[in-house]
Amino acid sequence: MYEEALGLARTLGVRVLLLGGDLAPHAEVKAQRTFFADFLLPRVRRYREEPGAPEIHYILGNDDWRANLPMLTRAGIPGFHYIPRDVRPFLDNTWIAGLASVTVTPFALKDWERWEEGLAGRTRLDGFRSEPDGSVRPFDFTGREREEGMGQDLEAIEAAITPEVGRLVCVFHGPPHGGALDRIHGGGHVGSREIRRFIERRQPLLSLHGHIHESPSVSGQFADRIGSTVCVNPGQRMGSSLHAVWFRLDDVAGTLTHTLLGRATFGAPTR
Ligand SMILES: [Fe+2]
Repeated sequence: MYEEALGLARTLGVRVLLLGGDLAPHAEVKAQRTFFADFLLPRVRRYREEPGAPEIHYILGNDDWRANLPMLTRAGIPGFHYIPRDVRPFLDNTWIAGLASVTVTPFALKDWERWEEGLAGRTRLDGFRSEPDGSVRPFDFTGREREEGMGQDLEAIEAAITPEVGRLVCVFHGPPHGGALDRIHGGGHVGSREIRRFIERRQPLLSLHGHIHESPSVSGQFADRIGSTVCVNPGQRMGSSLHAVWFRLDDVAGTLTHTLLGRATFGAPTR
Protein backbone atom coordinates (compact mmCIF):
# COMPACT_ATOMS: atom_id res chain seq x y z
CA MET A 1 0.00 0.00 0.00
CA TYR A 2 2.89 2.38 0.63
CA GLU A 3 4.21 1.59 -2.85
CA GLU A 4 0.74 2.32 -4.24
CA ALA A 5 0.47 5.58 -2.29
CA LEU A 6 3.91 6.83 -3.30
CA GLY A 7 3.30 5.80 -6.91
CA LEU A 8 -0.11 7.48 -7.03
CA ALA A 9 1.29 10.69 -5.59
CA ARG A 10 4.02 10.58 -8.24
CA THR A 11 1.52 9.95 -11.07
CA LEU A 12 -0.84 12.72 -9.94
CA GLY A 13 2.02 15.12 -9.35
CA VAL A 14 0.64 16.16 -5.97
CA ARG A 15 2.46 18.76 -3.90
CA VAL A 16 1.96 17.00 -0.58
CA LEU A 17 1.20 13.47 0.56
CA LEU A 18 -0.62 13.18 3.90
CA LEU A 19 -0.53 9.95 5.93
CA GLY A 20 -3.34 9.77 8.48
CA GLY A 21 -2.03 7.31 11.05
CA ASP A 22 -1.96 3.57 11.75
CA LEU A 23 1.29 3.63 9.79
CA ALA A 24 2.76 0.36 11.06
CA PRO A 25 1.31 -3.16 10.89
CA HIS A 26 -0.55 -4.28 14.00
CA ALA A 27 2.35 -5.64 16.11
CA GLU A 28 4.50 -5.25 19.23
CA VAL A 29 6.69 -2.19 19.77
CA LYS A 30 9.84 -3.88 18.50
CA ALA A 31 8.23 -5.30 15.39
CA GLN A 32 6.83 -1.87 14.50
CA ARG A 33 10.27 -0.39 15.07
CA THR A 34 11.75 -2.92 12.66
CA PHE A 35 9.07 -2.08 10.10
CA PHE A 36 9.92 1.62 10.27
CA ALA A 37 13.68 1.05 10.24
CA ASP A 38 13.86 -1.61 7.53
CA PHE A 39 10.87 -0.78 5.32
CA LEU A 40 9.25 2.62 5.66
CA LEU A 41 12.11 5.01 6.39
CA PRO A 42 14.45 3.74 3.63
CA ARG A 43 11.61 3.99 1.09
CA VAL A 44 10.61 7.47 2.18
CA ARG A 45 14.26 8.55 2.07
CA ARG A 46 14.73 7.25 -1.50
CA TYR A 47 11.40 8.74 -2.60
CA ARG A 48 12.20 12.16 -1.24
CA GLU A 49 15.45 12.13 -3.24
CA GLU A 50 13.48 11.87 -6.51
CA PRO A 51 13.33 15.23 -8.27
CA GLY A 52 9.98 16.94 -7.59
CA ALA A 53 8.82 14.34 -5.05
CA PRO A 54 6.01 15.66 -2.81
CA GLU A 55 6.65 16.41 0.82
CA ILE A 56 5.14 13.85 3.18
CA HIS A 57 3.30 14.91 6.32
CA TYR A 58 2.14 12.27 8.78
CA ILE A 59 0.44 11.63 12.09
CA LEU A 60 0.40 8.37 14.00
CA GLY A 61 -2.75 6.38 14.79
CA ASN A 62 -3.91 4.40 17.78
CA ASP A 63 -2.33 1.24 16.36
CA ASP A 64 1.15 2.84 16.33
CA TRP A 65 3.13 2.62 19.60
CA ARG A 66 4.11 6.12 20.73
CA ALA A 67 7.58 4.88 21.76
CA ASN A 68 8.55 4.75 18.08
CA LEU A 69 7.62 8.33 17.22
CA PRO A 70 11.12 9.74 17.93
CA MET A 71 12.72 7.38 15.42
CA LEU A 72 10.47 8.92 12.75
CA THR A 73 10.80 12.56 13.79
CA ARG A 74 14.58 12.20 14.19
CA ALA A 75 15.13 10.27 10.97
CA GLY A 76 16.47 13.45 9.40
CA ILE A 77 14.65 13.00 6.09
CA PRO A 78 14.09 16.40 4.44
CA GLY A 79 10.41 17.04 3.70
CA PHE A 80 9.18 14.21 5.95
CA HIS A 81 7.17 16.06 8.61
CA TYR A 82 5.27 14.97 11.70
CA ILE A 83 2.07 17.03 12.09
CA PRO A 84 2.02 17.88 15.79
CA ARG A 85 -0.98 18.56 18.02
CA ASP A 86 -0.59 22.20 17.15
CA VAL A 87 -1.36 24.63 14.33
CA ARG A 88 1.31 25.22 11.66
CA PRO A 89 1.43 27.06 8.31
CA PHE A 90 0.63 24.76 5.38
CA LEU A 91 0.02 25.29 1.64
CA ASP A 92 -1.66 28.32 0.04
CA ASN A 93 -2.18 30.26 3.27
CA THR A 94 -3.87 27.33 4.97
CA TRP A 95 -2.76 25.95 8.32
CA ILE A 96 -2.56 22.36 9.44
CA ALA A 97 -3.31 20.63 12.76
CA GLY A 98 -2.66 16.99 13.65
CA LEU A 99 -4.16 14.67 16.25
CA ALA A 100 -3.52 10.96 16.70
CA SER A 101 -6.00 10.65 19.58
CA VAL A 102 -9.05 8.44 19.37
CA THR A 103 -11.80 7.76 21.88
CA VAL A 104 -11.48 4.63 24.04
CA THR A 105 -11.56 1.43 21.93
CA PRO A 106 -12.08 -2.25 22.75
CA PHE A 107 -8.33 -2.78 22.13
CA ALA A 108 -5.35 -2.95 24.48
CA LEU A 109 -2.99 -0.36 22.96
CA LYS A 110 -3.84 2.81 24.90
CA ASP A 111 -1.02 5.22 23.90
CA TRP A 112 -3.32 7.54 21.93
CA GLU A 113 -6.70 6.82 23.51
CA ARG A 114 -8.75 9.50 25.21
CA TRP A 115 -11.84 9.41 27.32
CA GLU A 116 -14.93 11.51 26.55
CA GLU A 117 -18.47 11.86 27.82
CA GLY A 118 -20.91 9.48 26.10
CA LEU A 119 -18.35 6.99 24.78
CA ALA A 120 -19.99 4.92 22.06
CA GLY A 121 -19.62 1.29 21.09
CA ARG A 122 -17.66 -1.40 22.88
CA THR A 123 -14.87 0.00 25.05
CA ARG A 124 -12.19 -1.35 27.32
CA LEU A 125 -10.74 1.01 29.91
CA ASP A 126 -7.56 -0.92 30.70
CA GLY A 127 -4.63 -1.86 28.50
CA PHE A 128 -1.03 -0.82 27.91
CA ARG A 129 1.04 2.23 27.12
CA SER A 130 4.60 2.28 25.81
CA GLU A 131 7.57 3.98 27.47
CA PRO A 132 10.28 5.87 25.56
CA ASP A 133 12.65 2.90 26.02
CA GLY A 134 10.18 0.64 24.20
CA SER A 135 8.88 -1.20 27.25
CA VAL A 136 5.13 -1.29 27.92
CA ARG A 137 3.30 -0.80 31.20
CA PRO A 138 -0.30 -1.44 32.23
CA PHE A 139 -2.62 1.55 31.97
CA ASP A 140 -6.19 2.11 33.14
CA PHE A 141 -8.52 5.05 32.48
CA THR A 142 -10.57 4.32 35.59
CA GLY A 143 -10.31 7.27 37.98
CA ARG A 144 -8.32 9.45 35.60
CA GLU A 145 -10.95 10.08 32.91
CA ARG A 146 -10.75 13.86 33.29
CA GLU A 147 -6.96 14.02 32.93
CA GLU A 148 -7.11 11.83 29.84
CA GLY A 149 -9.91 13.57 27.95
CA MET A 150 -10.23 14.14 24.20
CA GLY A 151 -11.46 17.63 25.12
CA GLN A 152 -8.01 18.63 26.44
CA ASP A 153 -6.31 17.73 23.17
CA LEU A 154 -8.77 19.80 21.19
CA GLU A 155 -8.49 22.71 23.63
CA ALA A 156 -4.72 22.67 23.06
CA ILE A 157 -5.29 22.98 19.32
CA GLU A 158 -7.89 25.71 19.77
CA ALA A 159 -5.52 27.65 22.01
CA ALA A 160 -3.02 27.68 19.12
CA ILE A 161 -5.56 29.16 16.67
CA THR A 162 -4.41 32.78 16.93
CA PRO A 163 -6.01 35.54 14.82
CA GLU A 164 -3.38 35.22 12.07
CA VAL A 165 -4.33 31.56 11.47
CA GLY A 166 -6.18 31.19 8.18
CA ARG A 167 -8.23 28.29 6.84
CA LEU A 168 -7.46 25.11 8.75
CA VAL A 169 -6.78 21.59 7.46
CA CYS A 170 -7.26 19.04 10.26
CA VAL A 171 -5.56 15.64 10.10
CA PHE A 172 -7.27 13.88 13.00
CA HIS A 173 -7.03 10.10 13.15
CA GLY A 174 -10.44 9.72 14.83
CA PRO A 175 -13.54 10.71 12.82
CA PRO A 176 -16.37 12.85 14.19
CA HIS A 177 -19.30 11.06 15.81
CA GLY A 178 -22.44 10.69 13.67
CA GLY A 179 -22.75 11.11 9.93
CA ALA A 180 -21.08 8.83 7.40
CA LEU A 181 -17.50 8.50 8.60
CA ASP A 182 -17.63 6.56 11.88
CA ARG A 183 -19.88 3.60 11.08
CA ILE A 184 -18.96 0.08 12.16
CA HIS A 185 -20.50 -3.19 11.00
CA GLY A 186 -23.85 -3.50 12.67
CA GLY A 187 -24.45 0.16 11.92
CA GLY A 188 -23.38 1.93 15.11
CA HIS A 189 -21.43 5.20 15.31
CA VAL A 190 -18.17 5.12 17.26
CA GLY A 191 -16.56 8.47 16.41
CA SER A 192 -15.69 11.30 18.77
CA ARG A 193 -18.37 13.73 19.95
CA GLU A 194 -15.64 16.19 20.98
CA ILE A 195 -14.13 16.13 17.48
CA ARG A 196 -17.56 16.79 15.99
CA ARG A 197 -18.05 19.75 18.33
CA PHE A 198 -14.59 21.07 17.43
CA ILE A 199 -15.48 20.94 13.71
CA GLU A 200 -18.83 22.61 14.35
CA ARG A 201 -17.18 25.42 16.34
CA ARG A 202 -14.09 26.05 14.22
CA GLN A 203 -15.39 25.06 10.77
CA PRO A 204 -12.05 24.04 9.23
CA LEU A 205 -11.77 24.04 5.45
CA LEU A 206 -11.20 20.31 5.51
CA SER A 207 -10.93 17.59 8.14
CA LEU A 208 -9.25 14.31 7.24
CA HIS A 209 -9.82 11.19 9.30
CA GLY A 210 -9.23 7.43 9.37
CA HIS A 211 -9.47 4.90 12.19
CA ILE A 212 -12.84 3.34 11.37
CA HIS A 213 -11.54 1.37 8.44
CA GLU A 214 -14.89 -0.17 7.46
CA SER A 215 -16.96 3.03 7.63
CA PRO A 216 -17.14 3.77 3.87
CA SER A 217 -18.14 0.18 3.16
CA VAL A 218 -20.97 0.49 5.72
CA SER A 219 -22.19 4.02 4.93
CA GLY A 220 -21.38 4.02 1.22
CA GLN A 221 -19.69 7.41 1.66
CA PHE A 222 -16.13 8.49 2.25
CA ALA A 223 -16.98 12.18 2.53
CA ASP A 224 -19.43 14.20 4.56
CA ARG A 225 -20.07 17.80 5.52
CA ILE A 226 -20.37 19.37 8.93
CA GLY A 227 -21.56 22.90 8.24
CA SER A 228 -19.13 24.27 5.65
CA THR A 229 -16.40 21.73 6.50
CA VAL A 230 -15.67 18.84 4.15
CA CYS A 231 -14.86 15.75 6.26
CA VAL A 232 -13.23 12.65 4.82
CA ASN A 233 -12.51 9.06 5.87
CA PRO A 234 -11.10 7.01 2.97
CA GLY A 235 -11.36 3.76 4.97
CA GLN A 236 -9.24 0.68 4.27
CA ARG A 237 -11.48 -2.35 4.19
CA MET A 238 -12.93 -2.80 0.68
CA GLY A 239 -10.43 -5.31 -0.65
CA SER A 240 -6.71 -5.01 -0.20
CA SER A 241 -5.84 -2.16 -2.55
CA LEU A 242 -5.06 1.32 -1.32
CA HIS A 243 -7.88 3.52 -0.03
CA ALA A 244 -6.76 7.10 -0.59
CA VAL A 245 -8.22 10.41 -1.70
CA TRP A 246 -6.89 13.38 -3.61
CA PHE A 247 -8.21 16.92 -3.99
CA ARG A 248 -7.29 20.49 -4.79
CA LEU A 249 -7.27 22.87 -1.86
CA ASP A 250 -9.00 25.62 -3.87
CA ASP A 251 -12.04 23.38 -4.57
CA VAL A 252 -12.05 20.46 -2.16
CA ALA A 253 -15.70 19.43 -2.60
CA GLY A 254 -15.54 19.68 -6.39
CA THR A 255 -12.33 17.69 -6.82
CA LEU A 256 -12.34 15.16 -3.97
CA THR A 257 -11.75 11.69 -5.48
CA HIS A 258 -11.28 8.23 -3.93
CA THR A 259 -9.05 5.52 -5.39
CA LEU A 260 -11.92 2.99 -5.42
CA LEU A 261 -15.13 5.00 -5.05
CA GLY A 262 -14.42 7.81 -7.50
CA ARG A 263 -15.79 11.33 -7.06
CA ALA A 264 -17.23 12.28 -3.71
CA THR A 265 -20.96 12.41 -3.21
CA PHE A 266 -22.28 14.18 -0.17
CA GLY A 267 -25.37 13.32 1.81
CA ALA A 268 -27.34 16.11 3.45
CA PRO A 269 -25.11 18.08 5.84
CA THR A 270 -25.15 16.27 9.18
CA ARG A 271 -25.68 19.67 10.76
FE1 LIG B 1 -6.91 3.56 14.03
